Amino acid sequence: MKKIFKMLTLLVAATMLFVSCGKKEEAVTENGEKKVVIKMSMKFVQDEQTAKSMVIVAEKIKERTNGNIEIQVYAGGQLPIGKDSMEQVANGANWISVDGLNFVGDYVPDFNAINGPMLYKSFDEYLAMTQSDLVKKLKGEAEKKGIKVLSLDYLFGFRSMLTDKVVKTPADLKGLKIRVPNSQLYMYTLEAMGANPTPLPFTEVYSGIQQGVVDGLEGSLMTIYGTKIYEVRKNVSLTNHLLGVSAVSISKTVWEGLSENQRTIIQEEFDAGAKYNNDVTVELQEEYKIKLEELGVKFNEVDLPSFNVETAKVFSKFPKWTPGIYDEIQKELKVIRAK
Ligand code: G3P
Repeated sequence: MKKIFKMLTLLVAATMLFVSCGKKEEAVTENGEKKVVIKMSMKFVQDEQTAKSMVIVAEKIKERTNGNIEIQVYAGGQLPIGKDSMEQVANGANWISVDGLNFVGDYVPDFNAINGPMLYKSFDEYLAMTQSDLVKKLKGEAEKKGIKVLSLDYLFGFRSMLTDKVVKTPADLKGLKIRVPNSQLYMYTLEAMGANPTPLPFTEVYSGIQQGVVDGLEGSLMTIYGTKIYEVRKNVSLTNHLLGVSAVSISKTVWEGLSENQRTIIQEEFDAGAKYNNDVTVELQEEYKIKLEELGVKFNEVDLPSFNVETAKVFSKFPKWTPGIYDEIQKELKVIRAK
């Protein structure tokens, strides 16, 4: 009996030692680096290029860190997205949010301004803007709020209208309920364009159209093709009113808890991943169009100057934006375009 008791005691002690040491051993590797599992959350479904690009980035980071940094990619809103995802980041969770710039804009409002309506004529103009001192300053402000912005460069294409009605002018959008992401910038932009913007999570858009909750949506060709939303609406009016971009953010505390080597690898891979993502996305624009046409989707040009005039009003609607931010952006754009 005594022997059994002694053995049991030893077993419990050994288990406790294993559990506590196990945790430690799991947390710190031989060279003193942390072993970390980070959840990455996004709205994009697996068939969309952004999700595909992120899977590659996560694989490369895992490989280069010998498995010590494991980024688990959750696509299609399986985990909290948008505002809730950014809260995880700001609260210091092991979490990476891949979502609209507007959600970083909830913490540093000027981020919304740099992705305002009708600002960019090409992907390159936007990508030059993210390298500007203005954007560097905004990233610094985000850090003060506990958010390390790893990238602003994951593009998924200019956003246009997907409805059944052919839209050519703001007047054509009158009375149309258009789904937008839950963002004030999108609400004001679509309102200025003449529509009735209706915020809805993307997962509810397909049924929302079928049930008449909304008449259509605005989105990129990647979204329209990748989510199969073309099945319920058949006309793309090429307004190109906003650029679809994602901000990739991680908690500053989590970031600073990693070794310099790990941080370098992560940053390098997100930068390389953005370049790859954007090269592929540029090529895919024409391919998406052809594929959508084959699926019965029609495309039409719009009267861009009239949409330009209307959307310019959006920039004066945000009391939290720094006064003069629009002029500052225009100044940067002038420099970019002169190069
Ligand atoms: O999978 C949805 C994504 O492509 C677009 O989402 O909310 O930016 O329209 P959203």
